[in-house]
Amino acid sequence: MKTIKTKDEMRAVSAKLISQGRTFGLVPTMGYLHKGHISLIESSKKKCDATIISIFVNPIQFGPGEDYDKYPRDTQRDIEIALKEEVDFVFIPESKEMYLKNHLTYVNIEKMDKVMCGHFRENHFRGVSTVVLKLFNIIKPDYVFFGEKDFQQLTIIKKMVNDLDVDVKIVSCKTIREPDGLAMSSRNKYLSEKERKNAAILYNTILFAEKEIKKGCKDLEEIKKECLEILNQNEFIKKIDYFDFRDPETLDECESAHGSLHDILIASAVYIGETRLIDNKVVLL
Ligand code: PAJ
Repeated sequence: MKTIKTKDEMRAVSAKLISQGRTFGLVPTMGYLHKGHISLIESSKKKCDATIISIFVNPIQFGPGEDYDKYPRDTQRDIEIALKEEVDFVFIPESKEMYLKNHLTYVNIEKMDKVMCGHFRENHFRGVSTVVLKLFNIIKPDYVFFGEKDFQQLTIIKKMVNDLDVDVKIVSCKTIREPDGLAMSSRNKYLSEKERKNAAILYNTILFAEKEIKKGCKDLEEIKKECLEILNQNEFIKKIDYFDFRDPETLDECESAHGSLHDILIASAVYIGETRLIDNKVVLL
């Protein structure tokens, strides 16, 4: 396995893979790797001749007052995990390598980046789509692997690739969970023991909403009200950013479950103590 720090070296490696006619997959991450990331690596290894992971805590996707400085970082541990998973290349640039001082260009995926998490995290998706497009241009992978855990991110990246005719294939990978249902996340490290014990309430409430939709007798407003009540009753939930029912392709709000022509994305973001957790499930209708 080779660790690469500069864009020039990354470009040279990518050019060599292309000249050898080998397909290669990219798994973009912010590091502090867990089983969710590892499942993306496994998908890439199955599909591609070579696998590259990027580890970069992207400053421009964090807002003022967010957790950029305290975001968990452990490069040595990440490299050991990548080695064990038989990753071929780890691209791990520094911030000043990715963004030159006079960086002025950003990618906006309009409308979709203003709803759900975008409503609460101004410029977050602008930062994500900009860094992801830069990684695509530097690495030129055949396939890029994203987790459904960050469903809005995945939808926005698919939209960018379509709208801007980017020559990569996006592969979505299912959410990996702890035994109690909590979606794995680098940010779970922030949870105290008691908070961690209560954190599965987010996914359990989403599953409750799914069950109610499938029964087909209540409207979405009523189900949402019940879900908010369940969440609000838990003393560890300090704030609910949203609990939404949306079209998984357009992210438009669903009016009604009855006679819906598309599947329904149930997505939510809540604070357990100081920690913001997100989760989702697509209800297939
Ligand atoms: P990060 O949070 O490190 O996640 C990297 C990838 O792992 C994303 O595609 C995310 O959806 C996926 N992932 C995280 N937890 C998962 C889980 N429990 N199951 C399956 N997949 C999971 O998302 C980012 O980094 C950044 O925004 C990035 C795309 C790298 C751009 O900076």
